[in-house]
Amino acid sequence: MRFVLDPPLTTDLREEIVELWAAVTNAGGAVGFAGPVTHDDVWPVADRAFAGVAEGHDHLLAGYQDERLAAMLLFISHRFALAEHWRTVKRVMVRPSLQGKGFGGELIREAEAVARRFGWAALHVTVRDGTGTEGFYAAYGYREVGRLPGALRVGPGDDRDEAHMWLSLD
Ligand SMILES: CC(C)(COP(=O)(O)OP(=O)(O)OC[C@H]1O[C@@H](n2cnc3c(N)ncnc32)[C@H](O)[C@@H]1OP(=O)(O)O)[C@@H](O)C(=O)NCCC(=O)NCCS
Repeated sequence: MRFVLDPPLTTDLREEIVELWAAVTNAGGAVGFAGPVTHDDVWPVADRAFAGVAEGHDHLLAGYQDERLAAMLLFISHRFALAEHWRTVKRVMVRPSLQGKGFGGELIREAEAVARRFGWAALHVTVRDGTGTEGFYAAYGYREVGRLPGALRVGPGDDRDEAHMWLSLD
């Protein structure tokens, strides 16, 4: 996979991201929605994410396979001076047809390399309990440091813990 940090947020790229985000959600991915979603559902959330990148607070890591957007994640700043030395990784996703082939691992290792280049001390990620992705992050050195009980209401009567995982880069 070919990675690009902060590619220009052209109209085409914004549309590709919304298409990927909807496809991943509709395949059962836990990337901000309880699914299923339309592109129109994703646009307002994506626009807020694009604004954070355009304003220079956040960063987009895009992965391309055969010149097509295949994976992405965001590094989110907490916009808080005391927490400027680490970032939260959000919207970690690989195109459904490419999942399970090692690309997610490449993406998460590239995220660590980017974090080290920026000199960040740690990466944080939140995981929706019941999706099994704790095992994915644990394979790349993230350890669970806590959880918010029932913090995510994914449906009526379906509250899930939000697990917090942390990769120390010291
Ligand atoms: C989670 C995701 C990014 C992983 O990407 P991927 O390309 O499918 O993962 P890989 O093929 O690189 O797998 C890497 C390793 O993690 C493991 N793994 C992958 N997904 C896993 C999961 N859900 N639970 C446990 N282990 C998992 C694989 O078994 C593999 O281990 P191995 O190298 O020992 O075989 C991808 O499945 C995805 O986009 N999911 C939907 C979006 C989502 O829910 N993102 C998480 C937000 S917190």
